[in-house]
Amino acid sequence: MSVTQGDGEVLEGCLACVSCHREYAIHAGIPHFIQPQELTGLNQRFARLYDHFAPVYGPSVRVALTVLVGSERRARMHLLERLELKGGRLLEVSVGPGSNLPYLFESRQVTEVYGLDISLGQLRRCRSLVRKHGWPVELALGMAEALPYADESFDSIFHFGGINFFSDKQRAIEEMIRVAKPGTRVVISDETEQAARWYERIPGFSREEGGQLVAMSAPVNLVPQEMQEVAVREIWRRFGHAHGYVLEFRKPGG
Ligand SMILES: C[S@@+](CC[C@H](N)C(=O)[O-])C[C@H]1O[C@@H](n2cnc3c(N)ncnc32)[C@H](O)[C@@H]1O
Repeated sequence: MSVTQGDGEVLEGCLACVSCHREYAIHAGIPHFIQPQELTGLNQRFARLYDHFAPVYGPSVRVALTVLVGSERRARMHLLERLELKGGRLLEVSVGPGSNLPYLFESRQVTEVYGLDISLGQLRRCRSLVRKHGWPVELALGMAEALPYADESFDSIFHFGGINFFSDKQRAIEEMIRVAKPGTRVVISDETEQAARWYERIPGFSREEGGQLVAMSAPVNLVPQEMQEVAVREIWRRFGHAHGYVLEFRKPGG
């Protein structure tokens, strides 16, 4: 049985996969492609952390980006412009509470957005924002390492802020490439080593995993050789060093 609301959105129910025959529950309008007990390692730690910090995530990042770049708008637009949007379907891997959505929907090229995240706390906030504005956004609880989308189904793919701590960065990059249509630009950004030194003293934000420090550099070595226009740039230079990096490339063909 499913429960829908006035606009036809399914609030409670399930999605059935026609090829693998698995069923995925929909709760409060969000399809669940992972169960919390399936998460391990860094993904488990960060899903819990972001659930916990979801109420303060948006305002904290706004303050940090304002200090570093002058304004949140400037910081986010700088990244989104790298997508060279040409319309079609856009996927934000790790959409969080939807902080990029207001800027994305300023572009007439953006008509259909898919947002996935590992944290239900972040997605619930994102869903409220999406419903408030009536934006055409499909949300999903899932892992970057196992995207619940068909091959070659997106025209733009964007990720900001989580990849340094993904359990499997290589798998996540392979998944972004798999779901990208030929010719699609993929833009991935996260903080640098120097930026991490700011926050890693906060309890729960340690960079240590399995007795080792997690690397905070652009994973350009994990981008397959056949990708085109591969580039890495440092961004948000302030207080003597860059606080972020952008890794971008284009899937061949198209
Ligand atoms: C720093 S926040 C960035 C949120 C948003 N993209 C933004 O620009 O503000 C990082 C996000 O990555 C998500 N995340 C962490 N590991 C993930 C994974 N393996 N797969 C998908 N999302 C993940 C977290 O839940 C969190 O919402």
